Amino acid sequence: MTDVATLVDQLEQVAAEALGAIEVAGDPAVLEAARVAYLGRKGGRLSLLMRALGTLAPEERPQVGAKANEVKARIDAALEAREAELAAAPGPGAAQMDVTLPGRQAWGGGIHPIQQVIDEIWDIFRGLGFTRARGPEVEDEWHNFVALNTSLEHPAADAADTFYLERPLLLRTHTSPVQVRTLREHAPPVRILSPGMAYRRDTTDATHLPAFAQIEGLVIDEGVSFVDFKATLAEFARRFWGPGARVRFRPSFFPFTEPSAEVDVKYQRVLPDGRTVESDWLEIMGSGMVDPAVLEQVGIDPERYTGWAFGMGPARVAMTRWGISDLRSFIENDVRFLSQFTS
Ligand code: PHE
Repeated sequence: MTDVATLVDQLEQVAAEALGAIEVAGDPAVLEAARVAYLGRKGGRLSLLMRALGTLAPEERPQVGAKANEVKARIDAALEAREAELAAAPGPGAAQMDVTLPGRQAWGGGIHPIQQVIDEIWDIFRGLGFTRARGPEVEDEWHNFVALNTSLEHPAADAADTFYLERPLLLRTHTSPVQVRTLREHAPPVRILSPGMAYRRDTTDATHLPAFAQIEGLVIDEGVSFVDFKATLAEFARRFWGPGARVRFRPSFFPFTEPSAEVDVKYQRVLPDGRTVESDWLEIMGSGMVDPAVLEQVGIDPERYTGWAFGMGPARVAMTRWGISDLRSFIENDVRFLSQFTS
């Protein structure tokens, strides 16, 4: 037996279900399926219920018919509203997409920060009249030590400090053998810059790496004095660090220079807030006047020619440039670190 109350309840039930289904419909196809399921002429939930209308007494029919119309109108309205919503909203997952943003791209790589510094240093020395020279990383004892006035008894030549291959071959411990190779091939005047890798049996820490870049500089000519050296380095420092940069020479010792000096630099740093502060003194190179014994070794007359040389650490220079405190970050190959140096 069907009665009015039951039918009205069932109509309410269909309305509630239909509105729920419409609300969760995420795309037009699902919405259309909901429409068919509830309002479809054949087999739709509403038409199935309306078949029961015929079993009611004639005077009961208008009440249920009115209820059915009202339910149909609510479902129609909900379908229409949802359809409009779906048309306005972008597809699934796209709600937070900003199509005006530039596309995301994988980092395509870049020049390593230490190489960037080497390139910049090279540009400055090229502007000062230097040419580029290169030498092998696998050297022999003669070029690496003996010709540089360093006896094989010197601690630097010890196996604890040097990577020997098959004697007399070794991985060069500095770029200074390029001085020897250059002077054996080219008569003065000589003015070269020679960047390259050097190797020492150092334990890796914040300021030491067993494989590291160096830049050798060498000037040999008539009448070259320590004054030329100081002036050239002061000019280099100003061009690299800015007009406020100063250099300081501390007495030191190298077997192949006399006198020898460590060069420190002090420069003005502009902080992110715009204030300018002076840096600490930072050691950037070993240097000195080329020892007459070295010139004699390569057949150059030390009475006629003099000159100066330096070995600079570009990684140190890179640390000053970007305020990096640990050398190891340069070689860990961490893209999050390295990608910051791509302009
Ligand atoms: N070769 C020295 C070093 O590696 C640096 C240096 C180069 C010193 C040239 C004097 C002249 O420490």
